[in-house]
Amino acid sequence: MIEFSPKQKEIIRAPFDVTLEVNEGTPRSGKTTAGHFRFAYYLTVTPDENHLIVAYNQEQAYRLFVDGDGTGLIHIFGDLAKPKSDRLGDYLEVYTPTGIKKVYYKGGGKVDSVKAITGMSLGSVIFCEINLLHMNMIQECFRRTFAAKMRYHLADLNPPPPNHPVIKEVFEVQKTRWKHWTIQDNPIISEERKQEIYETLSKNPYLLQRDWYGKRVMPEGVIYGMFDMDKHILSTLLGEPYEMFFTADGGQGDATSVSCNIVTRYNGKFRLNRVANYYHSGSETGQVKAMSVYAREIKAFVNWCVEKFQMRYTEFFVDPACKSLREELHLIGIDTRPANNNAHDIKGSSKGIEVGIERAQNAITNEQFFLVENDKYDHYNFIKEVGMYSRDENGKPIDDFNHAMDEFRYSVNYFYKRYVL
Ligand SMILES: Nc1ncnc2c1ncn2[C@@H]1O[C@H](COP(=O)(O)OP(=O)(O)OP(=O)(O)O)[C@@H](O)[C@H]1O
Ligand SMILES: [Mg+2]
Repeated sequence: MIEFSPKQKEIIRAPFDVTLEVNEGTPRSGKTTAGHFRFAYYLTVTPDENHLIVAYNQEQAYRLFVDGDGTGLIHIFGDLAKPKSDRLGDYLEVYTPTGIKKVYYKGGGKVDSVKAITGMSLGSVIFCEINLLHMNMIQECFRRTFAAKMRYHLADLNPPPPNHPVIKEVFEVQKTRWKHWTIQDNPIISEERKQEIYETLSKNPYLLQRDWYGKRVMPEGVIYGMFDMDKHILSTLLGEPYEMFFTADGGQGDATSVSCNIVTRYNGKFRLNRVANYYHSGSETGQVKAMSVYAREIKAFVNWCVEKFQMRYTEFFVDPACKSLREELHLIGIDTRPANNNAHDIKGSSKGIEVGIERAQNAITNEQFFLVENDKYDHYNFIKEVGMYSRDENGKPIDDFNHAMDEFRYSVNYFYKRYVL
């Protein structure tokens, strides 16, 4: 039997009297878990047949809400729920007292995600990590529920920067009930563990605000705040390809991130296209991999890129600190070179990493850097990190959410030296 915190209970049992419910707050605060039971309750009472769970990609939609760490829909409904699929896609069939419900689960992070739902008629939509979804998809979801008998939407997210479009364009235009969550709202976090978390966070007032109080971060704190999901993500590679190269950052407990980059010339200008990303975090997924396993998976990733884009790669750069990853890659035939991590850069008054950050910011602002979508190794982790990577109150970049960000900076350094300088 599962026990809920007071806030979880309040959320789960609330009347269905608003168009959109938003649960915003700190990681691990129990938002998504409350969402599972809230949605299950809705499903048992709604007369509508078709529903949708949308997350950055389909795998996340399944992981976050269908399985949901052991409390998702398949666990709540047990024998009454079966995964199925039809011409509209994969769904979970759920038997309820008010009839059979179909809960589709789809990806919504891409420019063309919206194609997968045109023509559907829905009763409700669950938006997982709504700040990572494509705005077209979000808006289309609200249109798909226009004819619902019991229209309902639920969203969760970690605190986004205050200028994030989802606040003005979604939360403020719907009839919304917004709830704020902190670690106190998760009943399984012990007092001891809370104290530990508090002590770590209180060393940095900025992190204390964001991860203890669950406040929205200041826009100037977000390092790549100029990254615009509408402007800087493309569905196809544009221009004449010049070079393909890889950059990597990795660690034992930390995430390992490898990007495939293609330089093209488009409208007389060189641009850096980030076309694919291999990413794995042992601590986030609870599945720690040996370096040799990483190396094998990275090799499969490299082969996939070479095949997909029909290009040979010139370079494979790895953060010089990742010696063991480099060694494992060499053993399976991937030659690497140390990445330029800005350790030796001094420019103006800013030192080292700041030189790389400034270049990367310029590359985004000047439209020299783009994400290009693909159907296998997507940009979920880049987009997640780009919204979270920030500075502390002294202006120093915080050493968190920076795995894809670091190898992104290395790729810009190489691009800049070779094509821009
Ligand atoms: N009432 C509860 N009983 C048992 N376990 C719970 C309960 N609430 C949350 N948990 C567990 O705590 C963990 C964090 O909860 P959850 O995933 O809901 O947090 P979240 O706020 O959605 O976090 P994030 O922002 O990282 O997505 C999960 O492993 C979840 O299963
Ligand atoms: Mg969650």
